[in-house]
Amino acid sequence: MIPSLCSYLATLATLASTAYSSPQGSDAFSTVTTAAPLATANVASNSAVACNNSPDLCSRSYSNITHMGAHDSSFLRDASTKFSVAGNQYFNATVALDAGIRLLQVQVHDLNGVIEMCHTSCGLLDAGPLQTWLADIRFWMDNNPNEVVTLLIVNSDGNDVAQFGSAFQISGISKYGYTPSGNGWPTLQSMINANTRLVTFIASITPSSTYPYLLTQFEHVFETAFEVTSLSGFNCTLDRPGSQSSAASALSAGLLPLMNHFAYKSLGASLMIPDVDNVITTNSPSTSTTGALGLHAQTCNAQWGHIPTFVLVDFFTEGPSIKTADLMNGITNPVGRKNSSEAATKTSVNEALRGRNAAGMGTGALVAFLAAALVLA
Ligand SMILES: *[C@@H]1O[C@H](CO)[C@@H](O)[C@H](O)[C@H]1NC(C)=O
Ligand SMILES: *[C@@H]1O[C@H](CO)[C@@H](O)[C@H](O)[C@H]1NC(C)=O
Ligand SMILES: *[C@@H]1O[C@H](CO)[C@@H](O)[C@H](O)[C@H]1NC(C)=O
Ligand SMILES: *[C@@H]1O[C@H](CO)[C@@H](O)[C@H](O)[C@H]1NC(C)=O
Repeated sequence: MIPSLCSYLATLATLASTAYSSPQGSDAFSTVTTAAPLATANVASNSAVACNNSPDLCSRSYSNITHMGAHDSSFLRDASTKFSVAGNQYFNATVALDAGIRLLQVQVHDLNGVIEMCHTSCGLLDAGPLQTWLADIRFWMDNNPNEVVTLLIVNSDGNDVAQFGSAFQISGISKYGYTPSGNGWPTLQSMINANTRLVTFIASITPSSTYPYLLTQFEHVFETAFEVTSLSGFNCTLDRPGSQSSAASALSAGLLPLMNHFAYKSLGASLMIPDVDNVITTNSPSTSTTGALGLHAQTCNAQWGHIPTFVLVDFFTEGPSIKTADLMNGITNPVGRKNSSEAATKTSVNEALRGRNAAGMGTGALVAFLAAALVLA
């Protein structure tokens, strides 16, 4: 191997392993996709009007619902990233919300004082400023007034709460910010009535009374391991925060459970990418297949005596993952979800591409492909 490529790959491996070990896991890239938001009639709320895609969820507590989430929701594996093998999702956050995803996780970095959605390093993968993305989410929420949305932001470079506050204010999304009252979590209906329909968790942040809706993740949420590299590696054991000794103690302290359910594939040494080859199994609603989302959720529900309030998956359209949320929530007739024909077409393109990778490419070819994709990016 020529020295420059060799050292390039070594750098790549370092970056990839950093990405892998960063909080919440992570991986890859920018934006661009389908679908105008689905406008929902702003009818006076009553039991016949759906909250988060079902009338049955309106009277349920926010904490007693499974909110299906897209892990690294802005890092895409699509034409905009030349189908980067490091991408975690086929579709952007607007499409995810249209499809029923109600939790969006992102990783942010500091780029000359701007909070930017970058994977590991902004020189490597940059999905744009957080503020621009927040404006897209606000636009969707404007058009979908009966929907409660949750954000989970990994603050990789320790940006200050005031910088986040500014991005939330300028994007216009701060008006929806929910501030806990200290009396437990309200029903979706009461959050909708108050129009405080956005719950924002940041890991990690020093809270500020100026921005009371920017919540510290680990004061409110505990989570399972995010470094799973085998389909038999999913469990319900508390991984973070370290201040809680177990899931049971976190639950009794009032923390809400987050179940991480995405797998990485090792390309040798320290190079890790989202395991797309197994995603049909990983995201399956099956409650009997090892590694399946349905089985993991059912197992955690049984162990915890509490449904997973939050779940994070890669490639949310696979499974489809939302089916497992419906199972957990006891929903059989979801309403108002949108699957544009463009999204469906793109999905089949992506599936064809994935099939090709899975069928033919060995590790060496994949590493070379990854290197080429990053050189071109
Ligand atoms: C998703 O893509 C659509 C179509 O390109 C765009 O209108 C929308 O703003 C994007 N949403 C996000 C969150 O990037
Ligand atoms: C959660 O919701 C389910 C379904 O409505 C209900 O049976 C259960 O009692 C609720 N649990 C709590 C703790 O509110
Ligand atoms: C839970 O899963 C993680 C990731 O696979 C693993 O590191 C950890 O040891 C497991 N914990 C238990 C108690 O099995
Ligand atoms: C749209 O529907 C198709 C067929 O049911 C499915 O395979 C695809 O994942 C869906 N796409 C989105 C974005 O929901």
